[in-house]
Amino acid sequence: MNQTAQTSLMDTFKLFESFLPGFARTGLFSPGGLRYTGVAQSMYRPVALVTHRAAETADTISLSLMPPSGYPAFRAGQHIDVAVEIRGVRHVRQYSLTGAPAQSVNGGFASEPLRITVKRQHAGLVSNYLHDHAFVGTRLEISVPKGDFVIADQEASGYIFCSAGSGITPVYAMARELLSAGNKEDIYFYHAARSAESVIFRAELEHLAETHANFYPIFFFSEADGSEKRRLNFETLAPLLGSELSQAKTAIYLCGPGDFVQNLQDGFAAKKFASVHSEFYTLPQQTAEASVVNFLRSAAELVTTDNLLVAAESAGLKPKHGCRRGICHECKAHKKSGAVKNILTGKVTQGEEDIQLCVSQAVGKVEMDI
Ligand code: FES
Repeated sequence: MNQTAQTSLMDTFKLFESFLPGFARTGLFSPGGLRYTGVAQSMYRPVALVTHRAAETADTISLSLMPPSGYPAFRAGQHIDVAVEIRGVRHVRQYSLTGAPAQSVNGGFASEPLRITVKRQHAGLVSNYLHDHAFVGTRLEISVPKGDFVIADQEASGYIFCSAGSGITPVYAMARELLSAGNKEDIYFYHAARSAESVIFRAELEHLAETHANFYPIFFFSEADGSEKRRLNFETLAPLLGSELSQAKTAIYLCGPGDFVQNLQDGFAAKKFASVHSEFYTLPQQTAEASVVNFLRSAAELVTTDNLLVAAESAGLKPKHGCRRGICHECKAHKKSGAVKNILTGKVTQGEEDIQLCVSQAVGKVEMDI
């Protein structure tokens, strides 16, 4: 982006901020960068320029994206929204940031291209669009970095990462961040893929293993021949876990499809591992008793076994949402009464509170302020 365009973006944002209520203003605009909080952050829509495109596997590409000046720095494991317009309709998807976080310069703002990695999904509107239309020179609307699936600020005596398919993208970034920071604890990196050829970042992982004695990538191939063929789940993983692993201090990070993550999460919980962090790429399958949900402001009521986002849509409502899998928090809404179960954690909470509709299932009668 040239200097004129950067200045014009800055001026536009300054003007925009001047209309925001006081609590959302930051007052921190300077040639060194912008800062965004609250309302300002949710309404800011930066445009990034594709500066590089690389094939990772037969169905996966990485795109380097140069964000506008002053774009915030990010942590490994975070994601961005990418918005594209297809046949006049705006579609938004979340992609993990797979490049190295920029060095902290200009007061903590990114100065390097971002990188996202996109697997072409069967019938995936946005992934197919990016594969077919995003090339060097393309401009893409993105968001600021989001998400709290990052390396926890706590002491760890070792790390276990488990991923499947494109779930490798955030955990690869996190493992690499630990190694770049000089971490000397053992890092076990278990990954499930169809075959060796379909492992995203395989060459990078093998290079990390060659250059770091404490890094162990281990692959599970579901479509390999003979003894190479094995699935990754807690049953196949448990025999590989060393008996010396500390349940209290081994930090575990899981990412992949819902049932894959749920199986591992339950397995580690049964073995009393205390530090388990998960990101679900799809929701795990659920069986639930039918419950009555009352949407008070819309005067709608229905009996459902679905999560509350699907329930609201079935009732003809259009609640705000994004990822539909518990990551973006766009679907947050207020519950007036009743109990809900969090589909990802299994935790049941009662009474008046804010909840994420897409990962909440009613337990008995629930009243929502929608
Ligand atoms: S839609 Fe993203 S958290 Fe519910």
